[in-house]
Amino acid sequence: MEAVISIKNLDHYFGKGQLRKQVLFDINLEINAGEIIIMTGPSGSGKTTLLTLVGGLRSAQSGSLRILGQELCGASPAKLAQARRSHGYIFQAHNLHASLTALQNVRMGLELHRGISVKEMTSRSTEILELVGLSDHINYYPDDLSGGQKQRVAIARALVSHPKIVLADEPTAALDSKSGRDVVNLMQKLAKEQHCTILLVTHDNRILDIADRIVYMEDGKLGNAAPKNLAKPH
Ligand SMILES: Nc1ncnc2c1ncn2[C@@H]1O[C@H](COP(=O)(O)OP(=O)(O)OP(=O)(O)O)[C@@H](O)[C@H]1O
Ligand SMILES: [Mg+2]
Repeated sequence: MEAVISIKNLDHYFGKGQLRKQVLFDINLEINAGEIIIMTGPSGSGKTTLLTLVGGLRSAQSGSLRILGQELCGASPAKLAQARRSHGYIFQAHNLHASLTALQNVRMGLELHRGISVKEMTSRSTEILELVGLSDHINYYPDDLSGGQKQRVAIARALVSHPKIVLADEPTAALDSKSGRDVVNLMQKLAKEQHCTILLVTHDNRILDIADRIVYMEDGKLGNAAPKNLAKPH
C-alpha cells in the first residue's frame, strides 16, 4: 500500500531573483496511515514551510510530494484546493473567527464539503465539541474562552470532517503543561478512533511520547535521528 504522505527529494525556495533563498533541501519522508509523526527543530529551520506544502497551502516547486496518491508538486490551484479538503489543519496560532461562536467555528470545518445538510453539520459539530469537553461552551465566542479551550475548538474544527491527515503546527505552544497534555491526548485518541495520520510540529519535549516516530529539521534538512536532549521522556 502506498504511504499516505510520500515526500521525495523535495526542495523549496522563497523569493525571486537575487533574493531567492533555499529553505528546504532534499526532504525525504514517508508516513503511513494511522501514524503519528512529530517534527521538532530550531526556529526558522523550515518546519512550518514543510507543513504548509504537505497541506497544499502553498505549491511545491521541485521534487515529489505525493499526498493520498496525488502528486502536489506542480499541481494546479484547483488540485491543491481539492487536496486541502482531505486535511485538518491546526495552525501555530489557533485562527478562530472572533465573530463566530465555538459551534459556528467548528461547523466551518464542514462547510467546504458538499452534500452535508446544515442540520447534520450542526449535529456533528455539537458532537465533537462534546468530545473535546466543551459541551457547556458551544455558544461561547473565542474571546470568552481560555487558551486551552480555544485550542480545543481549533482541534474540533480540524477533526470534525474526519480528515485522513491532520497537520498540527505547535498546537500546545500557548498552553500550560496540563492543558497541553489534555490537548495531545485528545488528538491521539481521536486519531486512533478515526484512523488518521498526524504530522505534528512541536518544541514541547513533554509531548514527544505520543509519537510513533520523531523527525528533526535543522537548516532546512530533515533527519530521523533526534538529538539526545530530545530523547523520549519516561
Ligand atoms: N513567506 C515567506 N517568504 C520568505 N521567507 C519565508 C517565508 N516564510 C518563511 N520564510 C523563511 O523560511 C525559513 C523557514 O521558516 P519556517 O516558518 O518554515 O520555520 P519554522 O521551522 O516553522 O520556525 P518556527 O519554529 O519559528 O515556527 C525562515 O528562514 C523564514 O524566514
Ligand atoms: Mg513554524
